[in-house]
Amino acid sequence: MKRKGIILAGGNGTRLHPLTLSTSKQLLPIYDKPMIYYPLSTLMLGGIKDILIISKPNDENSFKKLLGDGENFGINISYKIQPKPEGIAQAFLLAESFLDNSPSVLILGDNLFHGDSLVSLLSEADKEFKGASIFAYAVKDPERYGVIEFNEDGIANNIIEKPKNPKSSYAITGIYFYDNTVVNKVKTIKPSERGELEITDINRIYLDEKGLKVKQLGRGITWLDTGTFDALYEASGYIRALEQRQGLKIGCPEEIAWRKGWINNEKLKEIASNSIKSGYGSYLLKLIKE
Ligand code: TTP
Repeated sequence: MKRKGIILAGGNGTRLHPLTLSTSKQLLPIYDKPMIYYPLSTLMLGGIKDILIISKPNDENSFKKLLGDGENFGINISYKIQPKPEGIAQAFLLAESFLDNSPSVLILGDNLFHGDSLVSLLSEADKEFKGASIFAYAVKDPERYGVIEFNEDGIANNIIEKPKNPKSSYAITGIYFYDNTVVNKVKTIKPSERGELEITDINRIYLDEKGLKVKQLGRGITWLDTGTFDALYEASGYIRALEQRQGLKIGCPEEIAWRKGWINNEKLKEIASNSIKSGYGSYLLKLIKE
């Protein structure tokens, strides 16, 4: 069965108030695109064509206005509301009928991945139909994340959510590949002290079953989260620097769809015509000419 994708784009974004008082964090700009274009692009690069976007009740229409049913990207996009941010793992309960027993990949709507070997890492994880695959990334401030510990042989042996004294600098990133047992696993866990169904608890179940694959992402891959003013600003600067230098866009779902043959030249021209003045549309038109 083909893997289905979920973008979790709810949450209160309290660290970004007042920016997020009237709009969703995942609609804020990262340089020249709405934030959600980046996780959407990541899933598309991984070959995922059925995608569920989970958002807060008030934001659903804005996401629909931006992304529609996915036709512009040659994919199928569905929508679901998360009434309250009751944890990342809750996504699987909300997605149960959408998943319909398929394997899944969940990406957080504020996570930005970039790097050469990303596509091969994603397709490797996609091929695993049993167990879970997650990605670990060395960070300076692991205490802010779910942290994964490894034994001397480099095998993951423990996961701790936001440890006070982390024993490893490897944070678990916001993209998770699971087999079709994940929904039932979420049904067995209880909310944590902070009232959330924790994704760390799900990963721990897979770890205990010896079904958790952890890939370390090296320094050739960039992983940014965009939850604070500085992180947002830095992510925009990073994308701007690369795009200005190369003249190529990062996280451009229309381009990915076109390169994969999911949309044709006519469709790309039609989409481009709505964004000519900003330069985004002329970029898309240039792809066809080149
Ligand atoms: P967080 O950064 O933990 O939360 P947040 O985005 O609400 O931000 P803040 O801490 O500033 O209040 O969430 C990580 C991502 O997961 C983010 O994209 C929001 C999403 N999320 C949900 O959609 N629903 C949830 O229940 C939770 C916990 C997170």
